[in-house]
Amino acid sequence: MKHAVPKTARPDLELDAGARAHFEDPVYYSDTYDWRDEDVVYYRALAEARGSVLEHGIGNGRVALPMARAGVEVTGLDHTRAMLDHLRALLKREPPAVRRRVELHQGDVRTARLGKRFPLVICPFNAALHLYTRQDVEAWLARVREHLEPRGELVFDISMPIPADLARDPSVPYRIPPFEHPTAGRVAYREHFDYDRVRQVLFVSMFFEPAPRRRSAKSARGKATRRAETVAQTRNGEAAAQTRRAETAAQTRKGEAATKTRKGEAAAENRESAARVATPRQITETFMTPLAHRQFYPQEMEALLHYNGFEVRELYGDFERGPLVQTSDVMVWHVAPRRAARRGTTR
Ligand SMILES: C[S@@+](CC[C@H](N)C(=O)[O-])C[C@H]1O[C@@H](n2cnc3c(N)ncnc32)[C@H](O)[C@@H]1O
Repeated sequence: MKHAVPKTARPDLELDAGARAHFEDPVYYSDTYDWRDEDVVYYRALAEARGSVLEHGIGNGRVALPMARAGVEVTGLDHTRAMLDHLRALLKREPPAVRRRVELHQGDVRTARLGKRFPLVICPFNAALHLYTRQDVEAWLARVREHLEPRGELVFDISMPIPADLARDPSVPYRIPPFEHPTAGRVAYREHFDYDRVRQVLFVSMFFEPAPRRRSAKSARGKATRRAETVAQTRNGEAAAQTRRAETAAQTRKGEAATKTRKGEAAAENRESAARVATPRQITETFMTPLAHRQFYPQEMEALLHYNGFEVRELYGDFERGPLVQTSDVMVWHVAPRRAARRGTTR
């Protein structure tokens, strides 16, 4: 089903590109982020406990497929056709029972009304960072409320703003060694960060340049994965901070062994599905992909939620339910409409 995109007097094409371009190559998306699995395990467990879920910004099913495989009825909404088409292709390779559990809609999370309610709405992996203005957030939360059952919950995760990233000189690129891009061939990669302090939007320009091909493309996957990890780690802070976070997480971790096995399974299943629809080629010209992420500070997000009638039930700094602390690089929000707000007031 297709849903209308919101009509604005003057669409901001820069932001529009920043909310879409990165998702026009779903195979690259899968290849770049398949190392992420803590969030997949986290959302899958929440969804399994409720039986059905609406995923806002479902993308190509990195989280949705493992949820559907676990028996969850998944309804997904996304504005990027390429991601949805990729997910449909991946679903064709799933058993009929899994396929039947997934219902997809193309549309905007700020406007789409599906006429159904869910015990859980999720919006994983920074999809909410494409809500650039207060009005965007208000429209999104209003749609979430319309889709939640009376005791339903919205769970979403967004990156914590990292001052060092926001302070990067836009003219100085961050580079990594050439790697095998799953759809563009061998490329050199560089990215520029340009933070707009007024709009609180981080503009990332990702450049992919053709690079001389090596004789053997052996271990291309390993390289792509390492590249993704390097980029993510650089974005998210220094090694020491990572270690501190890991230590905190380890202290609070429960059922570690079982979770790890399931994590590995989720990642491996996603990798396998994504690889089966890849079509490699070699680019001959450099291309640039823009990405725009709104930076929400914790207090600001809490205020937006509060004044839109939501209460914060839980807030974590990682997917192990660790506290939000100085070194956290993610915020995991569990929120629900306040009782008074449910009756029509926001006090
Ligand atoms: C980072 S991806 C997350 C995809 C998937 N949930 C995951 O965790 O891999 C963000 C997704 O949100 C979608 N998106 C961004 N803004 C949107 C909007 N206003 N309405 C609907 N989808 C949107 C993008 O197309 C993209 O597929």
